[in-house]
Amino acid sequence: MSNCQNIESSLRSQLNTEFIGRQLHYYPSLTSTMEVAKKIAREGAAEGTVVIADEQTSGRGRLGRAWLSPKGSLAMSIILQPSLNSLPQLIMVASLGAVRAIEQIAGLKAQIKWPNDVLIRGKKVCGILIESELRGKRVNFAIIGIGMNVNLNPLAFPEISITATSLSHELGKEVSKTELTSALLSQLEQLYLEAQTGAPIYRQWQEHMETLGKWIQVRVGKSAEQGKAEAITENGNLILRRADGSLAEIVVGDVTVIKN
Ligand code: BTN
Repeated sequence: MSNCQNIESSLRSQLNTEFIGRQLHYYPSLTSTMEVAKKIAREGAAEGTVVIADEQTSGRGRLGRAWLSPKGSLAMSIILQPSLNSLPQLIMVASLGAVRAIEQIAGLKAQIKWPNDVLIRGKKVCGILIESELRGKRVNFAIIGIGMNVNLNPLAFPEISITATSLSHELGKEVSKTELTSALLSQLEQLYLEAQTGAPIYRQWQEHMETLGKWIQVRVGKSAEQGKAEAITENGNLILRRADGSLAEIVVGDVTVIKN
């Protein structure tokens, strides 16, 4: 059996899910799991199909950025078919699932920086990218892309050395990627099914939101808003109280903390 089959079969044998990961496409190296997931979703891949790679050569991040995915990181994309109403919940499902899996497997406390960065001690450990395709008023498919720094030394990568951390860096020892992936898929499935019933995931999500209560700047393209991050809406939007007392509802953007 090749090494690649070993990793794939040990992941399969550890899966505790009903449908997420039951169809698994594993690659030792890939350009981006998002690209493959999108292609097979368009060809009719079943809900819950997972594309996973040991490393990505052109990993994609939010807002058109690149995402570094060397060996030792986790890179995967999950194909789902949520209802249109629950589509905004996917961000919450993904980041909350990551926080829970990190706690479960590594025993580390992680927090969410709005909208969907997962941080440990203020440094990014996991990034999430959601892409979807609609057909009329129906979601044809949505893809959750998750990249997590698991067993890598962030100091060895100048692009991320100041802003990022990894689980092994925080713990001082390596973490089983198979156990972590299996736990993450279980957490995601549980939260996704909960969200499909209309359950208010945002309440649990905001409990882990480190952004709330802080003075922040949110950049959206070339414009920026400043204010106090006051609340989260059911759809996951951020309510900002500007200095003049007026409120802004922010749907997408990049947060920088000005004052805690
Ligand atoms: C971000 O924080 O900018 C989002 C990063 C998302 C990275 C993941 S890794 C798996 C999937 N494949 C990609 O090319 N990107 C996402």
